[in-house]
Amino acid sequence: MSGAATDSADTTDSTGWFEAARFGLFVHFGLYSLAARHEWVRSREAMSQQEYDRYLHRFDPDLFDARQLACTTRESGMRYAVLTAKHHDGFCLFDSALTDYTSVRATGRDLVREFVDAMRAEGLRVGLYYSLLDWQHPDFTLDEHHPLRGTEAQRKTRDMERYRAYMEGQIRELLTEYGRIDTLFFDFTYPEKGPEAWGAERLLAVVKELQPDILVNDRLGIPGDYVTPEQYQPDRPLERGGERVVWEACHTLNGSWGYDRDNHDYKDPALLVRMLVQSVACGGNLILNVGPNGRGALDPTAHSTLRAIGEWTDLHARSVRDAGPSTFEPPSQGLYTQSGNRLYLHLPAWPLTHLHLPGLAGRVHYAQLLHDGSEIRFHEADGARHEHNNLAPPSQPAGTLTLTLPIARPDVLLPVIELELVEEE
Ligand code: GLC
Repeated sequence: MSGAATDSADTTDSTGWFEAARFGLFVHFGLYSLAARHEWVRSREAMSQQEYDRYLHRFDPDLFDARQLACTTRESGMRYAVLTAKHHDGFCLFDSALTDYTSVRATGRDLVREFVDAMRAEGLRVGLYYSLLDWQHPDFTLDEHHPLRGTEAQRKTRDMERYRAYMEGQIRELLTEYGRIDTLFFDFTYPEKGPEAWGAERLLAVVKELQPDILVNDRLGIPGDYVTPEQYQPDRPLERGGERVVWEACHTLNGSWGYDRDNHDYKDPALLVRMLVQSVACGGNLILNVGPNGRGALDPTAHSTLRAIGEWTDLHARSVRDAGPSTFEPPSQGLYTQSGNRLYLHLPAWPLTHLHLPGLAGRVHYAQLLHDGSEIRFHEADGARHEHNNLAPPSQPAGTLTLTLPIARPDVLLPVIELELVEEE
């Protein structure tokens, strides 16, 4: 049958929890949140350090409430969260002995500690994002993305060897001072800089030595524990060399990771739920981003979107959590996920009365709508008998199971039918 995940989110198994959890929150917060026009603002506008420092001097995350964020994460049906410990601008949200460019120096607050403690207290797994790029570090060489590209800063001596030592030192700080960290999201490799520039092999070895159970993504440019499709949805299980790989699609709410005040290109909650289900149906996770504003608060649309998703996951969690792809072929209108002998049929478009499920005759002993536990009746086509009731569907190939659905579409973001499968001998 299916390769559906069986581990629960609480197992100690090092990768099982990740695939069982299926849904996480990404949090992009930093100095760019004050600019409120995308986290790449310093690069896009080729700002000098001095110009960018206007955000440092005004950084005051008085509304950054990690406990509230942890509560929102759990209530949205997510089981882990990942915070930007350092983004490309180099600003650190943790206490680093290796730089003054931190939230602790700026405000006295170690936001990584607040985040880690709050997520743990809420029973969630904890991840950190760490940018390999660093536009503030004096040894990080200029490249096409660097805000100082094409300026005379080009002529200063910069030494990536020293920068690599800095990164290693910071990774040591993050992985020794904050308790158990479950995932590390490095970002990112591009044509001008890759595994060699990052000292990827060595960095990864240090990470695994310090926290053997941690999961590391693939953006050091060498294989990690999971791959990270960004802002697109894989439509089938992902493979490397014929082997399935663990993956996590990362998505924004509005196309920007950092707070972007004037961007109202928000994805609809129903679309986001479909994306979550599509990930699970293809054996992957979804990590959905929020970019708190300059004061550290979520904007109203982020709030209402997460609330709407949470209303759906409250009723439908078991169709995604601990679930995975199914080997059954779904009908064209639907998506399948599966967990053990429960097959979940997700229906983005509501059919009229009858829904034919190929190959499921004799395989199902009970069916219900998941949101209200109401029975869905079904019958099996024999492929031969003439059906004379004109409400009945035309004959279907043998082996088809036909569900009889209510006319009215259930009032949930994505209706789900739970099919209890007959155990195979
Ligand atoms: C990209 C962007 C970065 C963002 C990341 C999230 O690599 O450079 O701003 O943090 O995607 O996956």
